[in-house]
This record gives sequence, C-alpha cells and structure tokens, in this order.
Amino acid sequence: MRRPMVAGNWKMHGTRASVAELINGLTEQNLPTGVDVAVFPSCLHITQVVDGLAGTAVAVGAQDCASEAQQSALTGEVAAAQLSDASCSLVLVGHSERRLLLGEVDELVARKFAAAQSCGLVPVLCVGESLAQREAGQTLDVVVAQLSAVTDALGVEVFANAVIAYEPVWAIGTGLTASPEQAQQVHAAIRAQLASKSPELAGKVRILYGGSVKAVSAAELFGMPDIDGGLVGGASLNADEFGAICRAAGS
Ligand code: PGA
Repeated sequence: MRRPMVAGNWKMHGTRASVAELINGLTEQNLPTGVDVAVFPSCLHITQVVDGLAGTAVAVGAQDCASEAQQSALTGEVAAAQLSDASCSLVLVGHSERRLLLGEVDELVARKFAAAQSCGLVPVLCVGESLAQREAGQTLDVVVAQLSAVTDALGVEVFANAVIAYEPVWAIGTGLTASPEQAQQVHAAIRAQLASKSPELAGKVRILYGGSVKAVSAAELFGMPDIDGGLVGGASLNADEFGAICRAAGS
C-alpha cells in the first residue's frame, strides 16, 4: 500500500502576517495520521513555516532549487544544500509555471532533480500537458517525454526516493479539474512507464494529481487506483479547505 500524500503549493503568495495566519490555521486542523502532509511556501517564508510548524507532522518543502547542489556564486538562486540546512525535506522540480513562464527545459529539470537528491531532499517531479497538447491527442507522449528526461539522465532507481505530480496545465488555477478517469488514465501510464523498467519500484512510487483540487473533488480523485494524493495550489492557502483535502486523502 502506498501512503497518500497531500502537498500544498503556496506559489508566490504570502506576507509574514498571512503566513502566520495560515500556520495557525494549519495547527488547528485535525490532520489524518495516515497521510503525509507537506507545504511549500515561498523561499522567503520557509524558516517562518519550519519554526511555526515545529512539533507538527507537517513537512516543509521548497518550490524550486538551483541546478547546482551546493552554495556557490549564482545570484538569486537557492541551493538544495541551503534548503536542506533550512530543514526542508522536499522540493518541487519542473512545475509547469516554471517550464512555461521561465523557460525551464527537461534537461535543467533533471539537473535540479539530481541536485535535490544529492542533498537528501525528496524531489517532486511535476509533469503535465497543455490544453493544445491534450486536444491534439499528445497527452501521454508529453508526459512520457517529461518523465523519460529524468529516467534517461539519472536512471529509474532515482524514483525510489521521489514523488511524481501529474498536473495538466489546463487544470492549474482554472477551476477546471481533470475528471477522475482522465487523471487515472495518465497516472496509470506513468506507472506503466516506470514498471517497464522496474515493476517493484513502480508499485511503490507515489503519483499525486494537481490542478484545481478542492475539498469537494478530492475524495473522488484520490479514490482512483493510481492517484496517491494531491498537489494543491489555490486551495492550500485556506487552512480549513486544505485540512479537508488532507482528510479526504486519509479516508
Ligand atoms: P491549483 O494549482 O490547485 O491552484 O490549480 C496546482 C499547482 O499548480 O500545483
């Protein structure tokens, strides 16, 4: 059995005051013990969140890391080693906003993935197709290529210590959620791709769904056989809503 995970991606949101409020709200949630819960604040707020959630079971991750693992002369970037030093345990790599708006290519994503793992962080590899790609029938090709970029560069074994998030771009922040069946089809394809190289590993890796997950849609999505939880953006900024999504993953 795979242990479900719910991850809250706060994106470029938050002030010290609103983050303090969100931390308070999270500490008041009755979070299920059978679910790994993590939040991904902006880098600026990581220390505040680590301190504020100390003593809870909520893990803290970063939204990105540099492709260089160690601190060096790289203005504006944050090294995986620094994130690890700041008590992060996870890091998102290859989020579609970074791929599409900041031009991150597969090769760079693979290097970030490796940098994260070399510092003991668990990378959450984000993959997903655009609306045009879905309409052109290219969904599985796109997702397979994004996943292959990492397995070709680093081997399939790296997924023994990583998480995958399938996030269709057309569902992110749009209020449009993939149907449970649409998401399941892609999750199953991702798992099958890994299984062709290592069936044992494929059975263990967690594949999260992301894209307008809300408390009302969560249970049905998480009920699908290959959906092991969610990567939640907008709804994770509301502690009650996020708590309800976490509980849906535990039921
Ligand atoms: P959303 O974002 O839940 O606001 O659609 C998900 C994500 O981008 O991780």
